[in-house]
Amino acid sequence: MITISVKAGHVHKQRDDAIVLPLMDGRKLTDSGKALQQATGKAIPSFLRKQDLTGSFGKSRTLYNVAGIFTQRVMLLGTGDTKKLTLHKLRVLAAKAARKLDASGAREVSLFLPELSVRGASVADKVQAVAEGVWLGLYRFDKYQHHSGEAIHRLQSVAIMIASRRDLDDSRTALARARAIAAGTNFARDLANEPGNICTPEYLGDQAAALSHPQLNVTVMDKQAIEQAGLNALLAVNQGSAKEPRFIVLDYKGGSKADAPVALVGKGLTFDAGGISLKPGPQMEEMKFDMCGAAAVLGVFKAVTALSLPVNLLGVIPSTENLLGASAYKPGDIITGYKKDISIEVQNTDAEGRIILSDALSYAAAQQPAEIIDFATLTGACVIALGAHASGLMGSGEKLKQALKISGEFTYDRVWELPMHEEYQEQIKSDIADIRNIGGREAGTITAACFLSRFVGDIPWAHLDIAGTAWNMKGTDISAKGATGAGVRLLLDYLIRKQH
Ligand code: BES
Ligand code: ZN
Ligand code: ZN
Repeated sequence: MITISVKAGHVHKQRDDAIVLPLMDGRKLTDSGKALQQATGKAIPSFLRKQDLTGSFGKSRTLYNVAGIFTQRVMLLGTGDTKKLTLHKLRVLAAKAARKLDASGAREVSLFLPELSVRGASVADKVQAVAEGVWLGLYRFDKYQHHSGEAIHRLQSVAIMIASRRDLDDSRTALARARAIAAGTNFARDLANEPGNICTPEYLGDQAAALSHPQLNVTVMDKQAIEQAGLNALLAVNQGSAKEPRFIVLDYKGGSKADAPVALVGKGLTFDAGGISLKPGPQMEEMKFDMCGAAAVLGVFKAVTALSLPVNLLGVIPSTENLLGASAYKPGDIITGYKKDISIEVQNTDAEGRIILSDALSYAAAQQPAEIIDFATLTGACVIALGAHASGLMGSGEKLKQALKISGEFTYDRVWELPMHEEYQEQIKSDIADIRNIGGREAGTITAACFLSRFVGDIPWAHLDIAGTAWNMKGTDISAKGATGAGVRLLLDYLIRKQH
C-alpha cells in the first residue's frame, strides 16, 4: 500500500505533483480553494467560468501549470450537494481522486478533503474515511496479468491536509486505524481473489499461520487432527475433494485474561461446485469466492493484531472444497458432526456451507465465548433479497445485532436484518433425522440461519450472510472487480466501539 500522511499546511506552499481541492455545489470553493485563488490570480475563476464543471459528485477537472504556485496540477473535485455529504461520500471521493491521479502519472499529491464538513464527524473521522478511500480505491489484483512494456506511472505518496495543527494527533491515530483496516480488507480481497487452484484449504491454513503477533496463537488442524477432534460434518463435505480439509483456530489475547472472547467464524469453501447436486455452469467460476467468510475473519485478525486492540478474539475457520469425487457425500446421507445430539439429513449437497459451519459453530460455542459472529457466503437467496448493498443479518443476540447495525451505517459496510420467527424452524424438519440441510424455496436465507442456530446454543450470536456483498464483478465505488473485503470494516468498527 502506498504511503499516506496527515499534514496541516497551506495550499499555495505545496510542492507536490498535484493538489486536490473540493468544488462544492454552486461552484463554491472551500477555504483552501479560496486561498489558492488569491495566490494565483485569474486562473481558477476563468477556468471555472469556461468549464462545464458544476461541482456534481465525483466529477473532476484538472488545471496544469497554474502561475504563482509550485504544484503541477490542481484537480477540482465535485462534491455534489454539500449538505448531503457523509463519511462514505468522502471515502468515495478520495478513491476516485486517487485512481485518477494514479493513472495520470502524478506521484506525490495532497488532498484537501477533510475541510469539507460532514454532519456529526470529527476531523479524525474524515481523515480515516479519506485514507480508507485511497488505500481501498487503489487496490487491484493484477498479479496474473503480464504488462508488456507500457510505462507504469504509480502514485507513491498522499498527504491528507487538515486545517489545524490541533487536530494532528487525533488524525494520526485515525490514520493508523485506517491503515490497519485497509490492510486487513485488502488482505481479505487478496485471499479471495486468488483462484481455487492456488487458494486451497492448505493455503488458507498457511496464510493464517503466517499472521504474527506476540498475543496471537494459530492452530491449523490437518485431516488427521480434524478426524481426531470429531469434526465429522466438515469431513463429510470434504469427501468429494482430493484436497485435504483444514480447520483453523486463531486465538488472540489482547484483552484481560478474565474476559471471554468474541468468536468469529468464517465459511471457507475454497471452491463450491455444489457436489453431487452440481451447480449449473454459468458463473460457476465465481464459487472460488465461497471462502469470503474465512477471508473476512482473517482480514479482521490482520487488522486487530496490527492495532494490538485490547480485546480477546477467537477465530474459527472450517475449510474444504465441495466437489463430486467418487466418495463424495450424497443426497440422502445422514451425518452427525461435532455436536453429537443433532443428526443431519443431507437433501442437497450444495447446501454445504451450513454443514461445515455446524461444526465450526458448535466448536466455537464449546469454548464459551461471550458472543459469536459468523460470516458466510451462505445463500443465493440473500443475493436475491438484498442484492449487493447490504449483508443479511440474523441471529439471537439483540444487543450485538443492534451494535452491528450502528457499525454498518458508520462504515457503510452495511447490514440489514431478516427475521427469525420460530415458525421458520419447521421448514428444516426432517422425516428421518433431526434436521435437514434445506428448507424449501421460501425464505432460503432465513432457513439457512435457522439451521445454524441449532449449533450455537444460548450464546448471543449474529450471522452475516455476505453472499451478495463479498464480491462484485462490476466493482464498487471503493472496490475493484472481484472480492470487496465485506465484513472487515464492519467488524473493526464494532470491536473498536466496544472498548468505549
Ligand atoms: N455458496 C453457495 C451460496 C451462493 C450462491 C453464494 C450464489 C453466492 C452466490 C451455497 O453453498 C449454496 O449453494 N447454497 C444453495 C442452498 C440451496 C441448495 C438450499 C443456494 O443458495 O442455492
Ligand atoms: Zn453450495
Ligand atoms: Zn457454498
